[in-house]
Amino acid sequence: MSKLFSPYSLGPVELANRIAVAPMCQYSAEDGKATDWHLLHLGHLALSGAAILFTEATAVLPEGRISPGDLGLWSDATEEALVPVVAAIRKYSPIRLAMQLAHAGRKASSHVPWEGGQLIPAGQGGWQPLAPSAVPLAAGEPAPTALDAAGLEQVREAFAATARRADRLGFDAVELHSAHGYLLHEFLSPLTNRRDDGYGGSLEKRLRFPLEVFSAVRAAFPAGKAVGVRVSATDWIEGGWDLEQTLAYARELKRRGCDFIHVSSGGLSQQQQIAVHPNYQVPFAERIKAEVGIPTIAVGMITEPEQAEAIVATGQADMVALARAMLFDPRWPWHAAAKLGAQVAAPKQYWRSQPRAYKALFGDTSMGQR
Ligand SMILES: Cc1cc2nc3c(=O)[nH]c(=O)nc-3n(C[C@H](O)[C@H](O)[C@H](O)COP(=O)(O)O)c2cc1C
Repeated sequence: MSKLFSPYSLGPVELANRIAVAPMCQYSAEDGKATDWHLLHLGHLALSGAAILFTEATAVLPEGRISPGDLGLWSDATEEALVPVVAAIRKYSPIRLAMQLAHAGRKASSHVPWEGGQLIPAGQGGWQPLAPSAVPLAAGEPAPTALDAAGLEQVREAFAATARRADRLGFDAVELHSAHGYLLHEFLSPLTNRRDDGYGGSLEKRLRFPLEVFSAVRAAFPAGKAVGVRVSATDWIEGGWDLEQTLAYARELKRRGCDFIHVSSGGLSQQQQIAVHPNYQVPFAERIKAEVGIPTIAVGMITEPEQAEAIVATGQADMVALARAMLFDPRWPWHAAAKLGAQVAAPKQYWRSQPRAYKALFGDTSMGQR
């Protein structure tokens, strides 16, 4: 019996198996609005057989976009653009949908990666990035503006308002993007948070804004749906954010009703030193699961079915999320189920693709033809 293909629940959200499609920025929206690309991209991943599909980082405010092409959900127009995408997925797939709610902080106003990813200056289509403190991302770059009390209030409200829109659109879950050096992570890390008010300094004060945002989102999103948080478990820099602080953060999130922690790492600073290898972030998920007792999703360099099976079967994490491997092989869960002798949901239009050697792969697929 495959554990990877056994059912699981993220809080109130029941899942068919332990595989998630990780959030992946597409930089293909127009003024924050989803386009045909999102229908194709999310549409084909919805047929993957994974239990849950995370949308790319979805900006809660226009200035919270990484690039001008980021997906957003801050207005009626951005909400309307997602209606046909969600409707198409719901029509053809049982996959659960989670939206990653994001604010890019000091990493905002950047060119899309395939155009180099550098800061776009104000006046050339760029805008002024916001952050906890006026600490630039790269030496020689202009500093972001430190958020004042009114700015904090606006961001907190925007996260909650976007969660309400995600609920209206029919999303089953939302995930706060509190990783990879974006705004909420910038509040957590002492390297980017140099505030001397109630939101900076001690660990307790650095946790305060992300926890306030979490509580605002939890209150705005129905109790029957899940709210989770993606974390960077470490900055990979001496003196930065680390696993011990992440454990404290996860404990506080759990107390406030967090349903899951999605465990990534890094992304805050170009000074980071990471030795990337298969499972390199899994030990972080393992410690959070063991010490905090909260459902965890492991991510990062998980590419093989047996590898994913071992992570959940040995209890290192409750679920796995795949990003690049899922783009490379969007039927990864089908192939994993075949290898592990498990079953996976496939659309009836594709049932005839089931190889003879894996007779029960899609369950009862008997069909007639004249
Ligand atoms: C094209 C691409 C876009 C990504 N965009 C996001 C994103 O929007 N939000 C996020 O939290 N992580 C993002 N990531 C990181 C992935 O979710 C994942 O954590 C990372 O790629 C490691 O997993 P992998 O080895 O399975 O690719 C992105 C990764 C890729 C490859």
